[in-house]
Amino acid sequence: MPDSDNTLSTSSRAASGQLAVPPVAGVGDSLARVATPSLLLDLDAFDANVARMASAATARGVAVRPHAKAHKCVTIAQAQMAAGAVGICCQKVTEAIPFVNAGIGSIHISNEFVGEARVALAVAMASRVTLSVCVDDVRQVAPLGKAAQRAGVRIAVLPEVDVGQGRCGVDSTDAVGKLIDAIDHYEGLRFGGLQAYHGSAQHVDRWDARRDTARLAADRAAAYVRFLEARGITCPVVTGGGTGTAEFDIESGVYTEIQPGSYVFLDGHYGALEWRDDWRFRHGLFLASTVMSTARAGFIVCDAGLKSVATDSGLPRFWLSQQASQPHYRTASDEHGVLALASPDEDGAAWLGESILLVPGHCDPTVNLYDRYVAVRHGRVEALWPIEARGLSQ
Ligand SMILES: Cc1ncc(COP(=O)(O)O)c(C=O)c1O
Repeated sequence: MPDSDNTLSTSSRAASGQLAVPPVAGVGDSLARVATPSLLLDLDAFDANVARMASAATARGVAVRPHAKAHKCVTIAQAQMAAGAVGICCQKVTEAIPFVNAGIGSIHISNEFVGEARVALAVAMASRVTLSVCVDDVRQVAPLGKAAQRAGVRIAVLPEVDVGQGRCGVDSTDAVGKLIDAIDHYEGLRFGGLQAYHGSAQHVDRWDARRDTARLAADRAAAYVRFLEARGITCPVVTGGGTGTAEFDIESGVYTEIQPGSYVFLDGHYGALEWRDDWRFRHGLFLASTVMSTARAGFIVCDAGLKSVATDSGLPRFWLSQQASQPHYRTASDEHGVLALASPDEDGAAWLGESILLVPGHCDPTVNLYDRYVAVRHGRVEALWPIEARGLSQ
């Protein structure tokens, strides 16, 4: 199926004699025909990753609310819902718009937001979906409460507690108590539980150190739950956790819900962490790139540089090819990726025109550079999935 935007522009531009941007790929195309650089999704790996997380959490009675900030794609969210997810997380209010419009019925904004426009949008969403949001300051509560009351909607509000990251979230029981009192003040709001996410714990390299950090976060969250119980308040939800700590969060007995995002892709950074043998996800996200220059001995140059891949978590990793030597992605400039061959004297001429695959270091900001996934199975394009929430960061 050709990309619909491009199809439209192709016919209208042809009529006016202007050049049209060719489609990135068509259904049934071989990988060699996919225009590069492109974002590829390996559907076998994706299906396996979605099923793996769903079955592990379900077996322990923990809900999965995958984070859509990783993929920003309605089709992926729908696949996660079909696998049993209770809803999705979004990080920004606007990011949720395509998912609301597509009928995803339960959305948690797992982040604080302020300002009239964001509040109005959240309230409009709450009239269409089950919405929950996070707060860590009583001044975030009042505008939301008033707007929700005016609109006649009810929003679940989750105080965010800092369980070790030191970013957002309150860090005292006193502050949590004040937030719950503020929430209770408004008919349009209800206390929805606690947001307890520890971002840096996700990325601890060593498995046992990551387990210990995750346990500490769960212990901190549990202390807040006990505090609430002592006040006669039931905490219906403790939500948090990502790809790196999900296996521990599921077992913690504290988290009722996990929010993993990157597990559907397993980017290069996550792939390099130490994992338990029976808890492994598969690389599902790749950049398709083409070698377009081999002029210098010892190097090949591909067309995927900084405009095609985020490098905050390291340069992309070269993925296996038929060629004997396996080059190493060495430097990225705007439109070039320079890969070093195994030996500085090696002539890379045989690589010219070769399609190569790269594993991006960090999936979220890489995905945000693309309009669509080229979804492939067994080397053939099966579908093009739009990345509807691309750029929706407001
Ligand atoms: C609040 C929150 N929950 C969940 C996640 C998902 O994390 P990951 O993509 O590492 O699974 C993130 C990612 O930054 C996050 O900020």
